[in-house]
Amino acid sequence: MKAYDLRKKYLSFFQSKGHSVIKSASLIPDNDPTVLFTTAGMHPLVPYLLGGKHPQGTRLTDVQKCIRTGDIDEVGDPVHLTFFEMLGNWSLGDYFKKEAIEFSFEFLTSKEYLGIPVEMLAVTVFAGDENAPFDEEAFNQWRSLGIPEKRIAKCAKEDNWWGPAGITGPCGPDTEMFIITDKEPCGPDCSPACDCGRYLEIWNDVFMQYNKQADGSFIPLKQKNVDTGMGLERTICVLTGKKSVYETDAFADILAKIGELCGKTYDPNDTENVRAFRIVADHTRTATMIMGDRKGVTPSNVDQGYVLRRLIRRAVRFGMELGMQEGFTAEIGKVVIEQYAEVYPELKQNEAFVLEQFKLEETRFARTLRQGEREFEKAVSRMGESKVIDGMVAFNLYATYGFPIEMTRELAREHGLTVDE
Ligand code: ALA
Repeated sequence: MKAYDLRKKYLSFFQSKGHSVIKSASLIPDNDPTVLFTTAGMHPLVPYLLGGKHPQGTRLTDVQKCIRTGDIDEVGDPVHLTFFEMLGNWSLGDYFKKEAIEFSFEFLTSKEYLGIPVEMLAVTVFAGDENAPFDEEAFNQWRSLGIPEKRIAKCAKEDNWWGPAGITGPCGPDTEMFIITDKEPCGPDCSPACDCGRYLEIWNDVFMQYNKQADGSFIPLKQKNVDTGMGLERTICVLTGKKSVYETDAFADILAKIGELCGKTYDPNDTENVRAFRIVADHTRTATMIMGDRKGVTPSNVDQGYVLRRLIRRAVRFGMELGMQEGFTAEIGKVVIEQYAEVYPELKQNEAFVLEQFKLEETRFARTLRQGEREFEKAVSRMGESKVIDGMVAFNLYATYGFPIEMTRELAREHGLTVDE
């Protein structure tokens, strides 16, 4: 299964169920100043989840570009990504739990679509708390479709509740779907609620029936909605039995290009280089998506531009570790644009801008880096026996030389030091 096939299958399945395909919204949210990026497919649809009339109707489906940078420091492991594509289907006051679960079940198990054997599926549902009751309807629906009780875990809000995307807004209980792998259960209580690796999540159906208020209370929404999210790269990884999202076709060309540029080959077992390969691949892909979005964000010291600058500069640093020469981010950006041009045509329209920005930022950063590293070494040589970099040193590296704190952190780690932040 390739990214192309999964996108196509998903959209055509939901079209066959009366859904209109909508275009991916911008990565820069139009209606929500509380977040920098679109983090989920439901995000741009908030006005419609709150009752607004969508021009394409009450059943929608799409592939949405998403960015989540909360775990940026984890990128390099097998699963973390800062950009991903999310497949979703929505009911805006149309169908609710019963049909949503039926659709999910059919798409997952039907031979025409994913053809996953029912015995390999497990789910979780919301257990209930002071804000909302146990989701008995979702539980019973899964039971009626043939998922035995022992494969339906009941979980608390941390696991089975979604939203709001910002501070207030639509949210509700969800039911998550998992593939059971051949990894042995970790103990007698091993269940889909457990993160030992036996159960891998592939899809989340959210039943948006509440509106979270600024005071933390939940009031019922006027209309009941369904919001679902299936991470494309992750699902392909699980379906193809790969150990990492970086081993799926979404990254094949990008990693091959990085290999060509540094004269090494991407190998998930090469502990020396695997992290750097993945960071460069992830960060240049995300940076290309941000700059290629129709809003044309540029690297800067504030807001989205700051995140973009951080992504490019981190990619450059790890690219240098792999032995790449200045100018490589634009070369990788070209590959990313080719790969996604058909799905996100704006990338091709903004190609010249994207490549130019990559080059400019690399040049600026090369200067900063040379100077910052020199200053860092000077500071370390003045530290004596101490293993902790003083907060003032880290601050000055940033404030005076533009050397980002995360770079100070990384250099510190490499020297066996910590930073007093
Ligand atoms: N909004 C839900 C998610 O992102 C579907 O998981």
